Amino acid sequence: MSAAHVPVLLNEALDALRIGPAAVCVDATFGRGGHSRAILQRLGPHGRLLALDRDPAAVAAAASIADPRFCIVHAPFSHLGPVLDERGVSRIDALLLDVGISSPQIDDPQRGFSFRHDGPLDMRMDPTRGTSAARWLEEVEEDELAHVIRTYGEERFARPVARAIVAARQTGAITRTRQLAQVVAAAVRQREPGQDPATRTFQAIRIHVNRELEELEAALGQGLHHLAPGGRLVAIAFHSLEDRLVKQFIRRHSTVPDELARLPLREDQLPPRPLVAVGRAIKPSAAEVAANPRARSAVMRVAERVAGVAA
Ligand SMILES: C[S@@+](CC[C@H](N)C(=O)[O-])C[C@H]1O[C@@H](n2cnc3c(N)ncnc32)[C@H](O)[C@@H]1O
Repeated sequence: MSAAHVPVLLNEALDALRIGPAAVCVDATFGRGGHSRAILQRLGPHGRLLALDRDPAAVAAAASIADPRFCIVHAPFSHLGPVLDERGVSRIDALLLDVGISSPQIDDPQRGFSFRHDGPLDMRMDPTRGTSAARWLEEVEEDELAHVIRTYGEERFARPVARAIVAARQTGAITRTRQLAQVVAAAVRQREPGQDPATRTFQAIRIHVNRELEELEAALGQGLHHLAPGGRLVAIAFHSLEDRLVKQFIRRHSTVPDELARLPLREDQLPPRPLVAVGRAIKPSAAEVAANPRARSAVMRVAERVAGVAA
């Protein structure tokens, strides 16, 4: 079991955040602090870094950073706005969201994220609150389960998988990751090459249990609200649903809605947009993926806050 996490797109994210020496930065996904430590190296003595993580183990790991410019808060990033307000931080210059789960979370069987190692079927990033995967699977209706597996896992055998889970729990609760993986494997009729048949279902249940897409949407909105003019938003996503959400968020706030764009209006008659997209989506190089296969699905998007436009 590894307690380390290799930061993904580290230099690319750092450059995109464009950190000035006195910048006020937020790392909303501390993990094991790979990005945070690098941000601190770029900050001058008057810079500040506020980190968040919903996982108490990540917050505990941050105790190893003894730096007066740094502090960490145990909170979901959907509380970014209140966390900033409570600390009197009205404007931030850089916001990093490196979403998804960290290697220590996947690699610790006790966290219940992995179908490769047997462990309690938990899957909560914050085990101190919310409902575990096992508890949710005890009561969820087959239709809702199929919907979650189809929507968040993009699993074409969502219905047979949901039916198999509901049938299996008649003979006893599904409380272990291996138990769930075996039930799912038996229901997935056609395997995808190089992929465990449980991959999509585990992803779907994890996204549901942690409300990952709702969290991300909320953090982007609150981040935009607090970004200073010229401030940068950098988001790294690890699956297509997250990336689509980030892409659509940036597009919605950086381009004129289609219904207005179709009207015969001059540029100065169109509403100004609070964000501008910076460059295209960035993916890890072949060398990075070779060195860290977990980086392979990462996609980074960057946007900059425009001065003088209300968000
Ligand atoms: C990919 S890891 C980040 C790794 C980090 N950049 C590093 O270099 O170590 C994602 C982290 O974000 C945290 N996280 C995911 N969703 C969160 C949310 N909604 N609120 C707060 N933290 C979240 C996870 O607990 C995990 O520690």
